[in-house]
Amino acid sequence: MVHAIRIHETGGPEVLSWDEVNVGSPSEGEILVRHTAIGLNYIDTYLRTGVRPLPMPSILGLEAAGIVEEVGEGVNHLSVGDRIGYADMPAGAYSEARVMPAKIAVKLPDGVNDQVAAASMLKGMTAQFLIRQTFRVEPGMTVLLHAAAGGVGLIASQWLNHLGATVIGTVGSKEKADLAKAHGVHHTINYQTEDFVERVNEITGGEGVPVVYDGVGKDTFYNSMKCLSPLGMLVCFGAASGATDPLNIIDLSTYGSIYVTRPVLFHYTASRPALESCANDLFSVIGSGAVKIEIHQTYPLENTAQAHRDLEARKTTGSTVLLP
Ligand SMILES: NC(=O)c1ccc[n+]([C@@H]2O[C@H](COP(=O)([O-])OP(=O)(O)OC[C@H]3O[C@@H](n4cnc5c(N)ncnc54)[C@H](OP(=O)(O)O)[C@@H]3O)[C@@H](O)[C@H]2O)c1
Repeated sequence: MVHAIRIHETGGPEVLSWDEVNVGSPSEGEILVRHTAIGLNYIDTYLRTGVRPLPMPSILGLEAAGIVEEVGEGVNHLSVGDRIGYADMPAGAYSEARVMPAKIAVKLPDGVNDQVAAASMLKGMTAQFLIRQTFRVEPGMTVLLHAAAGGVGLIASQWLNHLGATVIGTVGSKEKADLAKAHGVHHTINYQTEDFVERVNEITGGEGVPVVYDGVGKDTFYNSMKCLSPLGMLVCFGAASGATDPLNIIDLSTYGSIYVTRPVLFHYTASRPALESCANDLFSVIGSGAVKIEIHQTYPLENTAQAHRDLEARKTTGSTVLLP
């Protein structure tokens, strides 16, 4: 038996229950991994509240690092003792150990320790697909990134800066603005006190930006469209403030023949070559020092409810790791 954070019903952080669960043994295509560090992500709150439904009861968590303890039949790319990381469905990372599909795990390179992997695989591979695949940012572009001091935000800020882009980042406080600036954001906008459409207009001399990365959702979605230059792309990749209002397709023409997309990491890493390429790109910017992964908060796994409260209250910055 091991301990895990499980939900038996959807709801607030109080439904996160510290349970003893049976781990079992790996079947064909599976591994048993003992976790050393677990990542906290905003999507975990969608799973907890039922925005993204799970069968009950379910262990939450999509991102972790650990050591392979057993390998099932037909698993050729991993061996007992390997240090691995992963970021994908099925949920189950909020546990001391678990049995999981081997195909979503990658071996961690020496330069990426377990806590860094748990702090960066989901958020960093998200940054990778957003800025290298969904809309490929080129040097000299000016881009708008919402929640620039958050988990995805601080990684994407550094990576965009490294690519030679001018980064405009929105943040919810003065402290977060300072943090975003220290991580590569050139222009910060406090969207709690300033009109970000006006500010983007000023900064770009009325041109707008070719791409907006919006993980905030409801509160920013429509105004994000107004920040785009003609033929620009709104990449709506999350909804921290709530689900967006329905899109009226005529607005795509109103704002300049723009594009709107709602991409998901797991679709970009669905095949093994795609996963390895995305993870290797992330490990390479971490290894070169272009992107530094800082862990700003840690919580004992048993206290995950507090971590969820802090994340939803906008009290966290950068990455958060849960320690089993
Ligand atoms: N599509 C994908 O595949 C994918 C993958 C990973 C993450 N995501 C999405 O990316 C976004 C960021 O994820 P993350 O884990 O890195 O979280 P995070 O950015 O660390 O936390 C969310 C941030 O959103 C901002 N925010 C704005 N309005 C908010 C509100 N009403 N309530 C709570 N927060 C609000 C807050 O920053 P300020 O205080 O600065 O506003 C907060 O810190 C989330 O929407 C997540 O779902 C999507």
